[in-house]
Order: sequence, then C-alpha cells, then structure tokens
Amino acid sequence: AQAPVNVTVTGAAGQIGYALLFRVASGQLLGADTPVRLKLLEIPPAVKAAEGTAMELDDCAFPLLSGIDIYDDPTQAFDGANVALLVGARPRTKGMERGDLLEANGGIFKPQGEAINAGAADDVRVLVVGNPANTNALIARSHAPDVPADRFTAMTRLDHNRALSQLSAKLGVGVADISRLSIWGNHSATQYPDIFHAEVAGKPASELVDEAWLTDDFIPTVAKRGAAIIEARGASSAASAANAAIDHVHDWVNGTPEGDWTSAAIVSDGSYGVPEGIISSFPVVSRGGAWEIVQDLEISDFSRQRIDASVQELTEERDAVAALGLI
Ligand code: NAI
Repeated sequence: AQAPVNVTVTGAAGQIGYALLFRVASGQLLGADTPVRLKLLEIPPAVKAAEGTAMELDDCAFPLLSGIDIYDDPTQAFDGANVALLVGARPRTKGMERGDLLEANGGIFKPQGEAINAGAADDVRVLVVGNPANTNALIARSHAPDVPADRFTAMTRLDHNRALSQLSAKLGVGVADISRLSIWGNHSATQYPDIFHAEVAGKPASELVDEAWLTDDFIPTVAKRGAAIIEARGASSAASAANAAIDHVHDWVNGTPEGDWTSAAIVSDGSYGVPEGIISSFPVVSRGGAWEIVQDLEISDFSRQRIDASVQELTEERDAVAALGLI
C-alpha cells in the first residue's frame, strides 16, 4: 500500500478548515488511492476546537485517513509535510492600517516559512489561502531559502471559479463549456479576471459579451464577490474557498486538462512584465507536478492596464513588507 501523504493545515479550527478537512480526509485532495495523514496547526486557544474537529473526522471512519495530529508549534506541524495548506491568518480588524496587517501576518508567515524550510518533505507544495495571500506567500517563501521557490503558491482559484460561474450564468452555458479564463495579479479587489482568451464551446468568449458588461458587471462582480458573500451570509466564504483549495492542489499534483488552463498565484519569472520574484496570479497549466505560466498570450491595452494596476499593488505590498524587514 502507498505510504500516507502528510497534509499540514493551519487554521484548522477556523471556518475554512472545517469545510476543508473532511474533503482532504475523504480523498478529494489527492485522489481516491492516496492515504493521508493530517497535521493540524492552531494557536493554543483554538487547539481544543481543532480536537473537536478531529473527533468528527474520526467519526467519519474515512478509509484513506491514516491519522491526525494537532500542534500549536509550526516546527512540529510542518515536519515531513508533503502538502501545506496555510489557511490561518490575522484578519484585518477595525482601525487596522495596511502596515499593521502586513506586520501581524509577518509574525505568522515568517516562522511558518522557517518551519517549512527546516523540516518539510523534499517534495513539499505550499498553498497560502490566508489573506493577504500573495504577500503572505512571499513572506513564507523568503524564509525558506532551501525550498525551490516554485513550491510556494497563493490561491486565486476561488476567483477563477467565481469568474467561470458568472460567465456561465451570463451566457446560459455550463461551466464545463468554458475554457481558458484567467485571473491576473493580486487576490484582492484589484485582480483582473480576463476573458479575452476564453472560449465558450469553441467560440471566443469576447465575441459573446460587450465591453460594458465586462467593465461594469463581470470584473467588479468577480472582484467583489467576497464582500457580497459576507453581506449575504454574515460570514466570509468558507466552503467555496475550501473547494478552491482542493481544486488548486488537485490540479497541481495531477495536472490540468489538455487544452485548458487555470489560475494560480505563483512566483513570477518576469513573464508578461510582472516583476520577477513577486507572487502574482497567472494563467497556468500543471505538467509533471509543476505549474507553468501559459506563454505568448496577446495582451490588449484593456487587459494591460488592469494587469499593471494589480501588479502595482503587489509590488507596493512587497516594498512594504521589505521595509518592515519581513522579507
Ligand atoms: P477563521 O477566522 O474562521 O479561521 C482562521 C483560523 O486560523 C482560526 O481558527 C485561528 O485560530 C487560526 N490561526 C490564526 N493564527 C494562526 C497561526 N499563527 N497558526 C495557526 N492557526 C492560526 O477564518 P477563515 O474564514 O477560515 O479564513 C481563513 C483565511 O482565509 C482568512 O485570512 C481569509 O481572509 C482567507 N480567505 C482567502 C480566500 C482566498 O481566495 N485566497 C478566500 C476566503 C478566505
């Protein structure tokens, strides 16, 4: 039998954690043949709640779940990790400036990066979900110099899935009929959901919608969907975020379908004028267990402006964490 894959999940007692862990344990992250061992990381006051979730995981009697360990120490939690889902983060609270937010998260993602560097498995793959996700991933990466940079990613798959859903509703087609959508830039309100390379049942999507719909409806709806969910649910997206994390890691490990691509925030190699080293969302495929940026797409002025604006925000966040000594 295959040895279990160690999956470390931080923020395990939070609402995304609750939506995520059962799907990981049931085999939806890595496939129905791959046993998993869960390593949960929480802060001390939330360890008891994580233990409660672990009791429920036990009660599911998942055949693929070979064990659960709970930690409040990152070094132990990331020891031997093959997949690391960094969900726990410090949310922005009232009156908090951006600098305070970045600093508080630096206090989380720096030690986690160090712990990954110290003890994670050689094949470790890291997905940062906790916001500000791109910059938190940059902080973790910069404290893990022995881990290849391309193992650090941040999640824009939820934005990608939201864009698929909005376009499918607009055109009255199934999401499976749509391919080659892209999310560029930061997982924030400046992100750019790009339909100019997308196809709908083989036809260019841009011929099926007008620019006013893109500008006034599609782009802001996708970018502000998180806020709309909070407004409606009274709590932020959790199950859809967990679903996107599953999709991201599943495709990273198993590959993306031929002829299509997806979106993920990965370390820029300078493609499309995105400064090297920042963690920005691109259209990507996964081949042989690694993400590759889709190359040679033509970028119109409409797209260029929007990509640049989001990338500008990312370089500002990078400069801010550099000034704070966090990278
Ligand atoms: P939550 O507040 O319900 O749970 C967060 C958990 O993280 C808490 O249990 C907390 O104790 C834990 N935590 C805090 N610091 C920690 C540390 N140093 N180590 C381990 N655990 C720690 O939040 P929720 O709803 O689960 O969201 C988690 C994060 O995901 C938030 O930052 C949220 O903004 C982000 N998010 C990102 C999305 C994306 O698309 N990238 C989508 C939705 C949410």
